Amino acid sequence: MPDPTTEPASPRSGIDPGARPGPGRALTPAIEVHLTDQDLRDALEADVYEGLTAPAKHLPPIYFYDDRGSRLFDEITRLPEYYPTRAERSILENHAKDIAARARATMLIELGAGTCDKSRVLLDALLAEGSLERFVPLDVSDSTLAAAAAALAREYPDVSIHPVVADFHRHLHLLPEGGTRLFAFLGGTIGNLDPEERWTFLADLRAAMAPQDRVLIGTDLVKDRSDLVHAYDDTAGVTAEFNRNVLRVLNRELRADFDPETFEHVALWNEEDSRIEMRLRSAVDQTVHIADLDLDVTFRSGEELLTEISSKFTPTGIEHELAAAGYGVVEAWRSDGDEFQLTLARPLGSHAPDRRPPDTGWHGNIGPEPEVAGP
Ligand SMILES: C[S@@+](CC[C@H](N)C(=O)[O-])C[C@H]1O[C@@H](n2cnc3c(N)ncnc32)[C@H](O)[C@@H]1O
Repeated sequence: MPDPTTEPASPRSGIDPGARPGPGRALTPAIEVHLTDQDLRDALEADVYEGLTAPAKHLPPIYFYDDRGSRLFDEITRLPEYYPTRAERSILENHAKDIAARARATMLIELGAGTCDKSRVLLDALLAEGSLERFVPLDVSDSTLAAAAAALAREYPDVSIHPVVADFHRHLHLLPEGGTRLFAFLGGTIGNLDPEERWTFLADLRAAMAPQDRVLIGTDLVKDRSDLVHAYDDTAGVTAEFNRNVLRVLNRELRADFDPETFEHVALWNEEDSRIEMRLRSAVDQTVHIADLDLDVTFRSGEELLTEISSKFTPTGIEHELAAAGYGVVEAWRSDGDEFQLTLARPLGSHAPDRRPPDTGWHGNIGPEPEVAGP
């Protein structure tokens, strides 16, 4: 692993003038970079080649989030149909004080922090608790992170803001250490990982955690199928634009010639795997050329490209999957109507388990409702 570089908060690919940090060096937190342009480029080439030459075409969701994708996601979170953000925020607003009292964290590390909107609720509670010294937002989207970090530095002058550009699949062991850390993984982002990726992620995080550290995980819960589908297929078409944005990223970064308008946005509920799947369905027979990969990709009319999964869980499944990766539940809170759950967990034992346990899907209804463990 190369040494991290520390850069002033100037992004790799530009921030909106409106979001640019204000003058004054103290207000411009330096960014720690573990994911360089070259790393991202190498991963993009490998992922796109693998995903578009596979029998069932697929792409990982990480490439949605260029500047435009991050802005579109932010718009999605304010749509009337998109309940997860409101539900998660309401849990935070009602219970952040309990979370802060349980965690007593000196450092808040947010994985996949995005615009850091909901982070403020946790920051306020941890400040009121009197424990917080440092906030470490981590994301792959450097420009979004830079803008968020600059705004937070102005709003929270007493907190050291330490943004990190990194991949939460690869760089958890490189995060700042010391004190008592609270890792936050909000927005239901863990649902974008398949069961094996979730287990690996949780085990990697477990291995990076000290006994006093805690993790707070936001998960969307299984519910009425039509509410689920509407949340990912809004009437204003913002989610469709977000979905097609990945094709624009490929056009720009790999000199591909996708015509995004020839791909329909599809959101469907996969009952067996308990997840929403976002797909792009080719409306015509077509061949797309990806110049930088020297690759032609053929799509039949009606053929689908899987772009994102969003798994939905049961409280019991969450507890079982956490236990399998070496965690105990400290406490769990649900939103009104049981739409969404925030779970605070602690590492158990001295080591993370070293092999994947069988069948640990978080959606499995494989036991009684979880009992709340002590801190
Ligand atoms: C679903 S959004 C959630 C954003 C925010 N946490 C929220 O609750 O609104 C996922 C975020 O994770 C980031 N992300 C996706 N894959 C990532 C990865 N492998 N490593 C780091 N960040 C990632 C995206 O850039 C995006 O900001």
